[in-house]
Amino acid sequence: MNKPYFIAFLLSLVLLVASFSVSAGNATSKVFKGKPCINSPQITGNYPSTPFLFYIPTSGQRPMKWSADKLPKGLKLDSSTGIISGTVTFKGDYTVTLKAENALGVSVKKLVIRIGDELLLTPPMGWNSWNTFGRHLTEELVLQTADAMIANGMRDLGYSYINIDDFWQLPERGADGHLQIDKTKFPRGIKYVADYLHERGFKLGIYSDAADKTCGGVCGSYGYEETDAKDFASWGVDLLKYDYCNAPVGRVEAMKRYAKMGKALRATSRSIVYSVCEWGQREPWKWAKQVGGHLWRVSGDIGDVWYRDANHIGGLRGILNILEINAPLSEYAGPSGWNDPDMLVVGIAGKSMSIGYESEGCTQEQYKSHFSLWCMMASPLLSGNDVRNMNDSTLNVLLDADLIAINQDVLGKQAERSIRSDHYDIWVKPLVDGRKAVACFNRASSPQTVIMNENTVTDLSFEQIYCLEDHLIKNSGDSKEFIIKLAPYQCKVYIFGK
Ligand code: GLA
Repeated sequence: MNKPYFIAFLLSLVLLVASFSVSAGNATSKVFKGKPCINSPQITGNYPSTPFLFYIPTSGQRPMKWSADKLPKGLKLDSSTGIISGTVTFKGDYTVTLKAENALGVSVKKLVIRIGDELLLTPPMGWNSWNTFGRHLTEELVLQTADAMIANGMRDLGYSYINIDDFWQLPERGADGHLQIDKTKFPRGIKYVADYLHERGFKLGIYSDAADKTCGGVCGSYGYEETDAKDFASWGVDLLKYDYCNAPVGRVEAMKRYAKMGKALRATSRSIVYSVCEWGQREPWKWAKQVGGHLWRVSGDIGDVWYRDANHIGGLRGILNILEINAPLSEYAGPSGWNDPDMLVVGIAGKSMSIGYESEGCTQEQYKSHFSLWCMMASPLLSGNDVRNMNDSTLNVLLDADLIAINQDVLGKQAERSIRSDHYDIWVKPLVDGRKAVACFNRASSPQTVIMNENTVTDLSFEQIYCLEDHLIKNSGDSKEFIIKLAPYQCKVYIFGK
């Protein structure tokens, strides 16, 4: 081979290898293989006479064709995109039969569309810009994130909210009394982003603060709640995260400020989810629902770190520390009102421009356990990593359909910790079909052997145990004892009961 040909040959080889390694994270996603499987929750809620938007998350080989039987008046399904949209006027439970079909088979699932006063009948799933990008968010980032979530299969596992956090706005309110969009970041405005997302079946979240300034020091909404809520609605916003920096400490004033925005959002022409973010300091689990909230943070910010108490610089907490805060709050969580132990840090691996400082990241096992525990606690599943550039191990954690199904279970129970030994925990989450999801979690850095039986864990039927990882049914037989070996920090989840 002469020299130019040899160089050209080498170049194409390099390109081939490069394109393969890029596609390894995305196009090969297991989500786009095999027969169809509809991964939607069993129920979704919307206010009457406001726009309804629902993409039917479905795994399986493409092309896919969707249909829906008994859609309520006012809604239509686009059979080639899987997006249901429209407006329903009358309150009620509408049970729809969804169908997805590809060359290999059919999947059928019932979905209750509840038109009423509640949103988020199962925990929200999606992505938020803060944990990785901090102030460095742009229109380009948000649109690329949406494209990536389609390509890598996240949208088809149910991740639907794409949330813009702090720093989309300018520091000062405009002379016209409206919040000003930072046009260097969002040159075509927020509505352009919302339209882009809605066309693809996603929902858009935005961020503000119950004071003059947000945590980042740009303009907040205090005193302009109605104006801002109306602007958010006119742009097509579907969720507001409302922070509490620079606001008075007292609970009564906080409730007042949150109620004001809650009322303003409810008065708009859209179904806008309301995320209360006052970091658990005023026990929002006791009042946030009352002021219109659909989820409420229970703690200060999460760090990309396994264990750290909040006395550390920046006040960021470790995954394990936030778990302890959320553990006793299960009675407050349920459909349309969720405890929020903060966004996921899965896969950030030290690469954060906001919560990464002095964080070394976590191990793969720790990220897996973090995801499993957030699923068990019926927590919001808002990924915070750069989903445009993630490796297969991170993607596989985020795409665990069995764990997501536990998180999205329509009963909406937060797991309770039934055992906390020196080294391990056992968490139990009742499911709508009468069975129980059981997580055995090793908090320690050494391997553990857990022996479970009817004396140690009461209220569990040991007759049939399903293992999520390989879907095998394990019969515990007559011994009524179940022995689990856990690697350091490992969390294994099972389903108990027939
Ligand atoms: C607070 C919130 C975070 C994030 C930042 C943005 O710290 O708790 O989740 O929204 O503000 O400044």
